[in-house]
This record gives sequence, C-alpha cells and structure tokens, in this order.
Amino acid sequence: MSVDTSFPSLRDRSPEMTGAEIAQSLVPPRQFDGATLESYRPDPDYPSQSEAVERVRAFVASWGPRQGGLFSRRRRGAETRPGIYLDGGFGVGKTHLLAALWSLAPGRKYFGTFIEYTALVGALGYQNTVKTLSGASLIAIDEFELDDPGDTMMMSRLLGELAAGGTRIAATSNTPPNALGEGRFAAADFLREISALADRFEIVRIDGLDYRRREVEGNAVILDDAGVDAGLQSIDGDVASDDFAGLLKHLSSVHPSRYVKMVDGLRGIGIRDVRTLTDQSDALRFVAFVDRLYDAQVRIFSTGTPLDQVFGDDMLAGGYRKKYLRAISRLVALTAGRD
Ligand SMILES: Nc1ncnc2c1ncn2[C@@H]1O[C@H](COP(=O)(O)OP(=O)(O)OP(=O)(O)O)[C@@H](O)[C@H]1O
Ligand SMILES: [Mg+2]
Repeated sequence: MSVDTSFPSLRDRSPEMTGAEIAQSLVPPRQFDGATLESYRPDPDYPSQSEAVERVRAFVASWGPRQGGLFSRRRRGAETRPGIYLDGGFGVGKTHLLAALWSLAPGRKYFGTFIEYTALVGALGYQNTVKTLSGASLIAIDEFELDDPGDTMMMSRLLGELAAGGTRIAATSNTPPNALGEGRFAAADFLREISALADRFEIVRIDGLDYRRREVEGNAVILDDAGVDAGLQSIDGDVASDDFAGLLKHLSSVHPSRYVKMVDGLRGIGIRDVRTLTDQSDALRFVAFVDRLYDAQVRIFSTGTPLDQVFGDDMLAGGYRKKYLRAISRLVALTAGRD
C-alpha cells in the first residue's frame, strides 16, 4: 500500500478561537448565501411547508418599513411574537428558512449554531456576551440543543436578557436523543426547557422528507486510493487527507466548537480506511465534524467502509439515531459528485 504524503493532514490544524473571532463568524454557512424565502420550494404533499414560509414572512413583516407615521408599527406588529421556533425532521429546510429570515432582518444580527453561541460565552464570559449581542435585531440559533441542562439554562437566560432589550430570536430544532419519529416531541421539550421564555415563541412545525434525498439518491460514493488522489487533485482549492483512525484521534483532541475553524478554507478532504464506528463518543464527534464539513460544503473522498454505513446498527438503534441518520444524509450529499 502506498503511503500518501502529497496532501496536508487535518492533524496540523488545531485552531484556537478568540471571542472576537467567534462573534465575527456568526453568519450563516456559505452554502446558504443564496437561501431566500423565494428559493424555498414547498413540497405540495406537506402543506406545513408553504405555511412555514408564510409564517416566516409574517415574522419578517413586523420589522417592515415604517410607513404612515409613528403609530403604524404598533398596529402591524400586534400579532407577532418576539420569537419563532422552526421544528421539524432533518432536511426539511429549517436552516434554509432560518438563513432566509436572517438575511431579511435589519441592522446588526447574528446567526450561529447553539454550539457556537456556547463557545462564545465560553470565550467572552456571560456578561461580555450579553454586551456583544445586545442591540441586535435578531439572534438566529440553528439546532437548539437540549442535551446539556447547564447550557440550555444559560442560553435561556441569555435569550431572556436579549429579548428584554428588544432583540428577536429565531431558532431551529436539533435532534434530541430518543426522539424517534422525526422529532415529534422536540417542540414540547424546547418549550419546557426554556419555560421562562416559552410564551414568547411561536412554534412552526415543518413536516416532510429529507430534501437532500429528493436529489441525492442512494449511497455514499466509495473510492480506492487512486480515486481519492484523483478526486482531491480535481478540487480547485485547499484539500487535506487523513486516515480515518488518525482523524478520529485528532477530533478527540480539539473542542467541537473549533471544528469550524479546522475546516475553514478547505474545499475537499480525503478519508482513508473508513471503518464502522464502535465508540459512541467518536461517533458524536464525527457527527459534529460532518456538520461543519456540510456547512462549508467540503467534498469528501473516502476509501474503506462506505460512509453511509459508518454508524453500526447498534448505534442506529440507540438514542442518537436521528443525529446519525442526519449525518448519513449529509455524508451522502458530500460524497456525491455535484457542483
Ligand atoms: N423546500 C426546499 N426548497 C429548496 N431548497 C430546500 C428545501 N428544503 C431544503 N432545501 C435545501 O436542502 C438542503 C437541506 O436543507 P436544510 O439544511 O435547510 O434542512 P434542515 O431542515 O436544516 O436539515 P438538518 O436537520 O439536516 O439541519 C439545503 O441546501 C437547503 O437549501
Ligand atoms: Mg439544519
């Protein structure tokens, strides 16, 4: 077997991020640059999708341009709550709609995953985070996590303070453990956990099929070593290549909030000798890594076990089933040759 030395390794990327850098990175991932309410194509089989677009539109309209004097705003915005929560299964376009909403918000605004906001608080401290974010028109939180009660409470308090200052909040659901069946209970869990804020949120439920699977059918593409080399060489931009075991080890040494910087600027990665994961911590870190690859639209070229089989049957039967299924959907999309 030839040892590849021609591509850089992700293991040489162990980034630190300052609070200021994290705050600067709080914009939608590049792949959602073009996401608008108009480019969201509601599936006619799932009426909740077109309804979701309308409700996001209404949420945005209450910021609308001031017309007809001082008191018109009050009339227009009377029905709108300060928060909106998009709840649904994976791939139904929650992040797309959140990014579209963010781009319509006036003035200073932020967009990040729950993990990124907790990393910001970790880097700046709570009070400085409040100072940094306050006065924004909108805080968009993609994939609100309920896994860690401490983080959830902290975020709930932070959002409460910001909302009191007039900032509006938009969030999407993550995939809580054990929520089989497309996250049917996510909205209830969310409301319970943010109980102090619950009545400020409008819940928008989005049903449907994984949009990525509408176009990307089938399995993750699997290659041999030469295929990985050829794939990486075909990429216009920075690439990296690693063996799967080494990559997992590296992921365990970098905080998941920094994976975003680890993959920054990459256009493609090679992963050699993929094998089915047996350790749950490895698997969850790999999921977080895949999320960042997906956000940055980094193409994946791999050898060994097809990446859609990287989570064993035991794992898929367990509490994090939805997270793993979503990661598979993303892996299939990233290994498919498209542009
Ligand atoms: N109805 C739709 N019309 C057009 N594009 C869509 C639609 N639904 C999803 N997409 C696109 O499909 C991809 C996946 O959607 P998105 O990431 O927004 O889904 P999601 O609900 O956030 O999924 P996940 O649970 O994985 O976070 C994105 O590129 C998005 O722009
Ligand atoms: Mg999403």
